[in-house]
Amino acid sequence: MAIDFHSRANRSTYASRQADTGWKAAIRRIVEPAGKRVADIGCGGGIYSLAWHALGASTVTGIDFSQAMVDAAHEQATGLADISFRQGDAAATGLPPASADIVFQRALIHHLRDYGPCFAEARRVLAPGGILIVQDRTPDDVRLPGSAEHLRGYFFECFPRLLAVETARRSTDTAVRTALDATGFAKVEMSMLWEVRKVHDGWQERRQDLINRTGRSILHDLSDTELAELILYIEKRLSPDGPIVEMDRWTVWSAVA
Ligand SMILES: C[S@@+](CC[C@H](N)C(=O)[O-])C[C@H]1O[C@@H](n2cnc3c(N)ncnc32)[C@H](O)[C@@H]1O
Repeated sequence: MAIDFHSRANRSTYASRQADTGWKAAIRRIVEPAGKRVADIGCGGGIYSLAWHALGASTVTGIDFSQAMVDAAHEQATGLADISFRQGDAAATGLPPASADIVFQRALIHHLRDYGPCFAEARRVLAPGGILIVQDRTPDDVRLPGSAEHLRGYFFECFPRLLAVETARRSTDTAVRTALDATGFAKVEMSMLWEVRKVHDGWQERRQDLINRTGRSILHDLSDTELAELILYIEKRLSPDGPIVEMDRWTVWSAVA
């Protein structure tokens, strides 16, 4: 069964880690965030809203259609100025026109049936010359094999049926570019990013993350019994000691409004 983003039981799943410095460096290669107004669409529990804030954005507004996620993000940002969160749909954010310099959409578009309206909304919200950054996985990213760093690849080796679910919901580079072009964006560029998702102290910590299905919506398509099988499958392939540096391969598109 697909993840229910509105369930309060899932409210911490996108709030329980920090963005890696490598991600921050990759963003800086695309745009200088300091002093910019950022809208983080599909912000979840605010992991990346907080990262934009740390990068020096003048304001950060996180939007998510799940009130449970918005509440979790609020908690994460307690005490910080110039960062706010509100409920809204990616295709109808409620943000004023031309009110952002950067619109960011991470791990959002594969949850949308049609991302054309969400790109159109991003263009409406962006000031002229503003930049849209979309971070998601293509089918090529998804098909990469499992390894000590790329644990996600093991999900599909162990349960090949998940690969069909996953590739069906992911878009190719061509499809995303075509939609951005059709929306009127200019200077569309694409780059690959190996992002450190989390550094785990050891297998027990990573194992608990898997049991909780933390930040891995695809694991909601497995029963508890199947998840236990997957955990054993991964455990056999990892060294029992030492930290685990878990990485994911992403595709990042940027486009100018
Ligand atoms: C995989 S999570 C990613 C969260 C965050 N961007 C991150 O990378 O940690 C996807 C998020 O998009 C939100 N979402 C899904 N469909 C949405 C929509 N139509 N409008 C706004 N938010 C949406 C979900 O509630 C969820 O928080």
